[in-house]
Amino acid sequence: MVFSSALSAFVLALPLLAVNAARTKRSLCPDGKNTAVNKACCALFPVVDDIVDNLFTNECGDSAHGALRLVFHDAIGISPTAGGGGADGSIATFNATELTFPANLGIDDILDDLGPFLLKHAATVSPGDFIQLAGAVSLVQCPGAPRIPFFSGRAQPKAASPPNLVPQPTDDVTSILERFASVGFSPAEVVAVVGGSHSVAGADDIVPNFQGIPFDQTPSQFDTQIFVDVLLHGTNFTDNGGPQSGESETAVAGTVRLQSDGLLARDPRTACTWQSFVNEQSKMAEAFGAAVLKLSFLGQNQHELTDCSEVIPQAIPVNFGPATFPPTKSIKDIDESCNTAKFPDLRTQPGPATTIAPIPQAESTSGSSS
Ligand code: HEM
Repeated sequence: MVFSSALSAFVLALPLLAVNAARTKRSLCPDGKNTAVNKACCALFPVVDDIVDNLFTNECGDSAHGALRLVFHDAIGISPTAGGGGADGSIATFNATELTFPANLGIDDILDDLGPFLLKHAATVSPGDFIQLAGAVSLVQCPGAPRIPFFSGRAQPKAASPPNLVPQPTDDVTSILERFASVGFSPAEVVAVVGGSHSVAGADDIVPNFQGIPFDQTPSQFDTQIFVDVLLHGTNFTDNGGPQSGESETAVAGTVRLQSDGLLARDPRTACTWQSFVNEQSKMAEAFGAAVLKLSFLGQNQHELTDCSEVIPQAIPVNFGPATFPPTKSIKDIDESCNTAKFPDLRTQPGPATTIAPIPQAESTSGSSS
């Protein structure tokens, strides 16, 4: 009896094993170079190679940052009441409309940078797929960032997004949380996706006359430093005569803090999640990766898309140390905003206060080399 039930379990298990084996068998792509489990994904390898080498130039720099921002500004263009196609590429195809939205300030420069590559690969990849693919590939240019899945098969966008769906840095926490909640994001997911993305980010437009002003001390690393820097008591951004609309005072010279980031870090609904990411690299990367993947499915049916995650290059492992207080700063300089947990113990960087250098700007790319 024991033998026969063990045997039947074995027999039942066989077809499953066979399916799994079939699913993991890699075939050589027509390029004779890459292999893929799903041959339908083969055509994406040259697109990935092109954007890594010629758009991002293997760096977690301005182009990679811009590609990540574009993921959000395309995907969030959907609402249960106003409509919109979400992650459909409408921000590129219908840019004449969407670039007039105030929240899309600066997206014109990002489209100038990415657009030639999107057009060049238009026969292979739809605009919606291209934006999500570039976003996933941008992350693996940044040490510490997660390698997120990529699903292909988004249809051509049908119309521009309705206005007023992209959050603005001048928005209060209630409206930011409500906007995200309307498309299924919890406050914790909002903190993960906003804080995580702004760890590899800066401002090119909201600080008048300045470009590439980082949001934290380490804009080329996907790390948890942003969750510290945004909680420091403020002092003026030194060079522009003080905070402008949508930015607030910041304690690290050379950086700028979005007013909305500052509020999310201090609001009772979000402050403990914000603080919980300090020095919790894996937890932050995982929560951020899951939230970005969720963005990529807005307006899409995942079951109608093809999993082409295998074309995304390997992530760059963490090659940096823990988060720190900037020189001369300590826990006394932190706005402790979480009532239920102590702020983690951090080391203070040695030496006098420093000024963080701007992020070098992307040179205009032609997208013509392959
Ligand atoms: C409350 C939500 C958010 C607000 C208010 C916000 C606002 C902003 C603003 C004002 C900038 C600077 C624009 C400029 O002057 O160039 C910026 C940059 C950026 N944002 Fe956000 N953002 C939000 C959420 C997100 C999310 C969810 C992502 C990605 C998943 C993201 C990714 C980025 C990136 C990567 C940059 C840097 C772009 C570059 O350097 O070119 N943001 N954001």
